[in-house]
Amino acid sequence: MTDEIPIRQAGRGRRKAGRLPLLALAILWAAEAVHAQDAPLPDEPITPVPLDIITDPARVSLGQRLFSDTRLSGGNDRSCSSCHMITRGGADGLRLSTGPQNRIPPTNTPTILNVSLSALLNWDGRNRSVKTQLRDVVTNPHIMDGDWPTVLSRLQADRALVTEFRGSYPDGITQANVIDALAEYERSLVTPNAPFDRYLRGEADALTPQAKAGYELFKFYGCVSCHQGVNVGGNMLQAFGIFGSPAAAEGGPDTPGAAKDTGIFPSEPVFRVPSLRNVAETAPYFHNGSVQTLPEAIDIMANYQLGRSITPDDIAQIEAFLTSLTGEYQGIPLGDYQR
Ligand code: HEC
Ligand code: HEC
Repeated sequence: MTDEIPIRQAGRGRRKAGRLPLLALAILWAAEAVHAQDAPLPDEPITPVPLDIITDPARVSLGQRLFSDTRLSGGNDRSCSSCHMITRGGADGLRLSTGPQNRIPPTNTPTILNVSLSALLNWDGRNRSVKTQLRDVVTNPHIMDGDWPTVLSRLQADRALVTEFRGSYPDGITQANVIDALAEYERSLVTPNAPFDRYLRGEADALTPQAKAGYELFKFYGCVSCHQGVNVGGNMLQAFGIFGSPAAAEGGPDTPGAAKDTGIFPSEPVFRVPSLRNVAETAPYFHNGSVQTLPEAIDIMANYQLGRSITPDDIAQIEAFLTSLTGEYQGIPLGDYQR
């Protein structure tokens, strides 16, 4: 977990069963026996997005407003939602975005969805919590190009906003509170109930046979050695190009966006393994947005990360599995949001 807000993991309730009286336990056992086919799959390397993340509604609402507030940018001309759109899988669908004064950020815009569930943030994994990421993103010259004193004085001049902030934060609009509200909003941006998560929870029919076969291949080939955990990625640094050099990483360790001085794989560029949640909604792919389609990205991964070429049939099955990782935002499947 990246921060202190309690996130209750699905399944924890079951462990509490030990505290129940014996009779209740027996009833629970009988109920589970009847619904044996609905039992969660044990010991999988990927876990479902929790269904019951606890957030503070007033802070989430403040954070949501700030997320679309151009006053957070130096030029008062862009907000977080200019590049991170729910209707585009939490990203912007572009190879590279256009930053302030036409500066092009060196890397593709990653999704904002489920970020609070990743242990490492940014392509180079330099941030380990949404709060440190938030402090930096406002001042990043390629992204918001703002400075905190200006941002705060603009917001503090807005009386209605000051009053609303005081409702949640007695000390009003401060850098820490602006960051806290945005972080709380980011915590609310989770996409549970992907077909794959429902399958993990025991709904055998939630996945098509093709997606199930794709999941088995994902494990069999070893994709899961890097893309695992609740976010199917987001928790480790790895070289891009373990077997040979993919075109997207031709700059070697100096490839834009790569982590520096990690001490691992000194001759290869190292990146945070990205989350594959909602990946069918977040083309184009890779740190430089150079690949448009999932089959192409899967083929590159098999060749350069696992050193094997796999058949189009296998690629199609893995694609079906990756597509089953598309979840729901506020109860609506992400793919149904109007573009
Ligand atoms: C100009 C487009 C743009 C705008 C505007 C923008 N971002 Fe981003 N965002 C990016 C890019 C590009 C990255 C990747 C930067 C990197 O890794 O070096 C990123 C990365 C992130 C990440 C890390 C995601 C991950 O999984 O690694 C978060 C969180 C984030 N932005 C939140 C925000 C917030 C909050 C705002 C507003 C204060 C914002 N962004 C404004 C383009 C943008
Ligand atoms: C050795 C670790 C490793 C293995 C094994 C691995 N990946 Fe990756 N994967 C990465 C890294 C690192 C990146 C980011 C590369 C970049 O953007 O430059 C990535 C990126 C991706 C992307 C693009 C995601 C995005 O949003 O841009 C997809 C899709 C993907 N991997 C799927 C797979 C599949 C399918 C397999 C198995 C065939 C696999 N990966 C095996 C480390 C790995």
